Amino acid sequence: MARTLITGGLVVTAAEETPADVLIENGTVVALALTGRQHWTADRVFDATGKYVIPGGVDVHTHMELPFGGTFASDTFETGTRAAAWGGTTTVVDFAVQSKGASLRAGLDAWHAKADGRCAIDYGLHMIVSDVNESTLREMPGLIGEGVTSFKLFMAYPGVFYSDDGQILRAMQQAADTGGLIMMHAENGPAIDVLVEQALAGGRTDPRYHGEVRKALLEAEATHRAIQLARVAGAPLYVVHVSAREALAELAAARDLGLPVFGETCPQYLYLSTDNLAEPGFEGAKYVCSTPLRPEEHQAALWRGLRTDDLQVVSTDHCPFCFKGQKELGRGDFSKIPNGLPGVENRMDLLHQAVVDGHLTRRRWIDIACAAPARMFGLYPRKGTLAPGADADVVIYDPHTTHTLSAATHHMNVDYSAYEGRTVTGRVETVLSRGEVVLDRGHYLGRPGHGAFLPRSTCQYL
Ligand code: URP
Ligand code: ZN
Ligand code: ZN
Ligand code: ZN
Repeated sequence: MARTLITGGLVVTAAEETPADVLIENGTVVALALTGRQHWTADRVFDATGKYVIPGGVDVHTHMELPFGGTFASDTFETGTRAAAWGGTTTVVDFAVQSKGASLRAGLDAWHAKADGRCAIDYGLHMIVSDVNESTLREMPGLIGEGVTSFKLFMAYPGVFYSDDGQILRAMQQAADTGGLIMMHAENGPAIDVLVEQALAGGRTDPRYHGEVRKALLEAEATHRAIQLARVAGAPLYVVHVSAREALAELAAARDLGLPVFGETCPQYLYLSTDNLAEPGFEGAKYVCSTPLRPEEHQAALWRGLRTDDLQVVSTDHCPFCFKGQKELGRGDFSKIPNGLPGVENRMDLLHQAVVDGHLTRRRWIDIACAAPARMFGLYPRKGTLAPGADADVVIYDPHTTHTLSAATHHMNVDYSAYEGRTVTGRVETVLSRGEVVLDRGHYLGRPGHGAFLPRSTCQYL
């Protein structure tokens, strides 16, 4: 394979910022040197003067083709990973789903069948366990051996993905014994379902009531309970899509005790709010996801949590449903709106905007978007940094060019943008995946099947 050189850029990793040239051979970063110190030759040279040279984004929470509420998330692995690449993300970790009554193996095989040979960038898989029982518990070590080292449980969605506290404790014990990481959807589902029924019976059927019934306190309560169960089991815990400041406070309190408790939030919770859910004319359905968007005052707490390391990761929870025909299933009944927002293409830009706005430093941007997710899910240092030996997943990022996010120009297979009309400063210029050019100055050069399955090691964040 060609020798590639990226010259003159500011190399930004979670650890440092250095004006450096980057040499790539056979899909791997082989050397970095202070700009101009080495006189390397290469078959292909990218001049990154005035640009950032950063590790490709690592988005550890996506749902391509997820079955939900009688429909399927609208991005396939082909369209969703292509959109990710357009946005500077070179690794996704998606969720294989165990169907109730079926084995983990069957769910994992089904997800491999959807993904294998179709991805533009490398991908890993977590396993959603929707039926914790003796047989599924016995399957967990085998999956860990195959590089599926993390397992998502749900305290929400009774009758679908829900696990009760006993099941959660058993899965956590198994994770503690085998090195697996439990990822938790922390919302009190049974209590929420009561409030849903009461809202619908009272004629409160608009999208905004989705946010009102899924109360911040019920996210905080479930987060607290998950933490205590993990303590009892002696297991680490990763709480997904944290949106309520009260839930974040539970994580912070646990971390103050030195517990191995970690948290993720998503761009939608940092930039959108219940004001969006209340948009008139059923527009609010575009913003229905769980955990729900919160009142704007929660955003400052989340930004602060990212700075103080009470939250370690920003992923997208990319789970797109078209407004027409999919979100519309819930007209007249918010509980039938498929849950999820698109965003896999927007994450790196929205988080760079946070650097521009002063919420994050450049290094923290790369930490929460690349390095920490790679370490959390056993992909480091192959992914998430630029160092000799790392995969040459590299983004040349122009920090000065502005562009406007819109469904008219995005590459996700969904008919709206959650960030329609928002102008961001910064833009992906070039994307390499294992040394191959996937994107260059607006030209897409990737192909389905370039992306390979990534067997992951166990959590490296402990
Ligand atoms: O609304 C969401 N987040 N949909 C995806 C499923 C999940 O709970 O992550
Ligand atoms: Zn969830
Ligand atoms: Zn999700
Ligand atoms: Zn051109």
